[in-house]
Amino acid sequence: MKFLPSLVLLIQFQAFFSQNSQECITEFNKEKDYFPTKFTGQSSAISIEYKLSYKVVTNKISNQTIVLYQCGAEVPVVNGTKSFEIPLKNVGVEDTTVLSYFYSLGLLDKIKISTVEEYFVHPCLQSKNDDIINANSQNKTEKLKQYSEVGAVFSWDKKASDNAIAFPATKSETIEARVDWINFVAAFFNLEDKAIEVSAKIKNNIKCVSEVAAAASTKPVVAWTSYSPLSELANETWSISTATYKLDYVKAAGGTVFNITTGSFSTAADFKTAIKDVDIVIDESFIVLGKGAAQKTFSKFYSISEAEESNFKFIKNKQVYQENLLTSASDSSAWFESAVLLGNVVLSDLVSIVQPSVLTDYKRTYLRNVFDQEQVKVTSETCSKTEEATLTIPTVACPSSKTVTTTPTSSSLKYTASLWTIFCIFLYSVGI
Ligand SMILES: *[C@@H]1O[C@H](CO)[C@@H](O)[C@H](O)[C@H]1NC(C)=O
Ligand SMILES: *[C@@H]1O[C@H](CO)[C@@H](O)[C@H](O)[C@H]1NC(C)=O
Ligand SMILES: *[C@@H]1O[C@H](CO)[C@@H](O)[C@H](O)[C@H]1NC(C)=O
Ligand SMILES: *[C@@H]1O[C@H](CO)[C@@H](O)[C@H](O)[C@H]1NC(C)=O
Ligand SMILES: *[C@@H]1O[C@H](CO)[C@@H](O)[C@H](O)[C@H]1NC(C)=O
Repeated sequence: MKFLPSLVLLIQFQAFFSQNSQECITEFNKEKDYFPTKFTGQSSAISIEYKLSYKVVTNKISNQTIVLYQCGAEVPVVNGTKSFEIPLKNVGVEDTTVLSYFYSLGLLDKIKISTVEEYFVHPCLQSKNDDIINANSQNKTEKLKQYSEVGAVFSWDKKASDNAIAFPATKSETIEARVDWINFVAAFFNLEDKAIEVSAKIKNNIKCVSEVAAAASTKPVVAWTSYSPLSELANETWSISTATYKLDYVKAAGGTVFNITTGSFSTAADFKTAIKDVDIVIDESFIVLGKGAAQKTFSKFYSISEAEESNFKFIKNKQVYQENLLTSASDSSAWFESAVLLGNVVLSDLVSIVQPSVLTDYKRTYLRNVFDQEQVKVTSETCSKTEEATLTIPTVACPSSKTVTTTPTSSSLKYTASLWTIFCIFLYSVGI
């Protein structure tokens, strides 16, 4: 019984993690461990060393080490670091990718000032627009003054202000490391318990969806392409991304990765030769391919003539997608706000394209078929009070054993139920 030990672990896990204190220390005790719940995971992105009343948090990508001490504790002296009193009461935000880490920890109310308000997508973030101060982008002195009034500023730039914290989650190469940043954000708020729960939920969901999808026998070839037009700074370029996490998503979704050493092409002809056998294209060009003129525009970007169109399977079978299905009223894409964290949703979106029979009745969040889907706009009106209070992580029902018909060819494959799948259904049913 493979799942019994996991079951025991699960029960321990739920009983064991309590919340680190949200209160300031009134009578400091040098001997007391003020952080009973610790992030002890190994991550290529971050590490957290726990002392009794402070934590030393290292961001391995930006080489930034930060000391976080419980408010009311003796202020620790650690050379070469910035220190912050925690739990932070409020923050500034200069980067869209950190937003979903905040709302999945229930920390929306902590955001007091921002430079990225116009890019908010989540309905409950959009509804906060009037409460969040727009950082002054014209006057740096004024902006720094605004930043000095909050506990910390999460930014892409560790030098943005004296209290800036670098948040380079997008520079993490693996799916797991991208999720792990939740533990980093949580450390500033003593929410380790919640972060452990959220990241386990996402990672378990990834595992159970890919368990079924990756076992398919027919694996269409997926390429992540982009076109950048001629500009003052650069020539026209056609490229194919081989970022580790993207290839890992393709593998996990039951696709064949398109992996090449040189992914950048200076002529459309070379690019077209490279992608001639690709089945599915995820087009990451910044220009939105609107449904109406999608094929014409797409072919224009990639210099594919009308006569050539039928030579490419992704055009013939209408398998071109962009990362802009769900957007805000002002056209910002949810992809840039939450896809770095919600790897389970990215993967499920991709499975619904690469192995569609694995996820039935699934509605995608990020990936839009440019030929037959319009963008979906969300506004603050869909933020309900309950949602704002809980902001649960969306999980996908783990696919069960069944006959999987693979696409785009029609061969099929039988699966037997794995114990893992049963365990996933269990996890899902208890809401983990
Ligand atoms: C961080 O430090 C490592 C090793 O000391 C170095 O190779 C890397 O370039 C540094 N990264 C940054 C962003 O400074
Ligand atoms: C910090 O640096 C100062 C001088 O640079 C040194 O005297 C002191 O011992 C250092 N403290 C620690 C805890 O390393
Ligand atoms: C910028 O802001 C500072 C501080 O609020 C103010 O003293 C200064 O006059 C402002 N500068 C301009 C050019 O508006
Ligand atoms: C653009 O291409 C031309 C011709 O190959 C080359 O001379 C030039 O340096 C390129 N410009 C840039 C910005 O790469
Ligand atoms: C892609 O190719 C590189 C270099 O050959 C290799 O290191 C890497 O493991 C490959 N990735 C996948 C997912 O196959």
